[in-house]
Amino acid sequence: HESALSADAVELGNYQHYMQKEIFEQPVALANTLEMLGSAATRSFSANLFGAAAPEALASTRSVLILACGTSYHSGLVARYWIEQLAGIPCSVEIASEYRYRVSVVDPDQLVVAISQSGETADTLAALKHAKTRGMTRTLAICNVAESAIVRECALRFLTRAGMEIGVASTKAFTTQLAALFLLAATLAKQQGRLAANDESECLTALRHLPLALKHVLELEPAIAAWAQDFAGKQHALFLGRGLHYPIALEGALKLKEISYIHAEGYPAGELKHGPLALVDESMPVISVAPNDNLLEKLKSNLQEVRARGGELYVFADADSAVEASAGVHILRLPEHYGLLSPVLHVVPLQLLSYHVALVKGTDVDKPRNLAKSVTVE
Ligand code: G6P
Repeated sequence: HESALSADAVELGNYQHYMQKEIFEQPVALANTLEMLGSAATRSFSANLFGAAAPEALASTRSVLILACGTSYHSGLVARYWIEQLAGIPCSVEIASEYRYRVSVVDPDQLVVAISQSGETADTLAALKHAKTRGMTRTLAICNVAESAIVRECALRFLTRAGMEIGVASTKAFTTQLAALFLLAATLAKQQGRLAANDESECLTALRHLPLALKHVLELEPAIAAWAQDFAGKQHALFLGRGLHYPIALEGALKLKEISYIHAEGYPAGELKHGPLALVDESMPVISVAPNDNLLEKLKSNLQEVRARGGELYVFADADSAVEASAGVHILRLPEHYGLLSPVLHVVPLQLLSYHVALVKGTDVDKPRNLAKSVTVE
């Protein structure tokens, strides 16, 4: 059983670090996680993927509360966009260490979703128990470890199959959580009678094609490694995104903080003018996630505000995003725009960027100072 292996038993192979290996394992981790959807001939999926009681529980769910910490919290933030757009029900996402001590409103019809790679994070477990004690018993675990405390505590479950993740900074666990959460949003939509057969079939096609799409994104590594040289001497960095990709900006900033010790902040680009713009000058690199979606034009005006203050821009666009390189504006393009699932692809260059900046700086990539892989005490 893979999760029972010790770290030493997992070979590094041709990779320098576990983090790099885990970034490159993402196509396989996604394929394994999505295996239960069946072959391409299968055009529909069953709510039973989330447990025997799921069809009924998801049909009568009126809202969703997601509880998580760290990178898992960021996957929850992306899921909120998907759940509200596809299933049309309200979704809130809370940092577990806050929720567990907050006086909040109890809603017994709410679906409580705990997201955790390890399934053992103390705050996430306590937040889940707090919700249960208050009568919220419709609970779902999205975890990477089958026999973990959080899985045992929940009525429903979906296990990601990322395999053992050793690098402290989470990568393949995040993208597999996103795949699971997209499936949850689509399943909620289906159980609520809001997913047409065509859309269901399209969701499945997009999910099945993800591993291959991600493989192509990984080919950007050499170009990203070249960018990394520019960052190693910096003290601060700003990550911008909008909509579905705002949480991806947050995750990009978290990765850079965790392993390269550069102070980084993620911001929704429309909020720049309400504060962070004051920080922008020639010494502040600004990384932007710029997929070819309906917010691209808005994002472009935000990026002009940065350029006008001398900020150097590093933009991750799509093949067909209408943004051009110029003095102070560097662009790398992902091979294709991936619609609602685009965050799964756009996080990958940010993982690679933080990894390569850490390499240039010579930090301990797999075991960053002061951090632990699994935080099982408060
Ligand atoms: C620690 C790890 C992070 C992780 C977080 C939540 O802080 O360093 O990488 O995202 O815990 O962990 P979980 O196992 O609950 O997803």
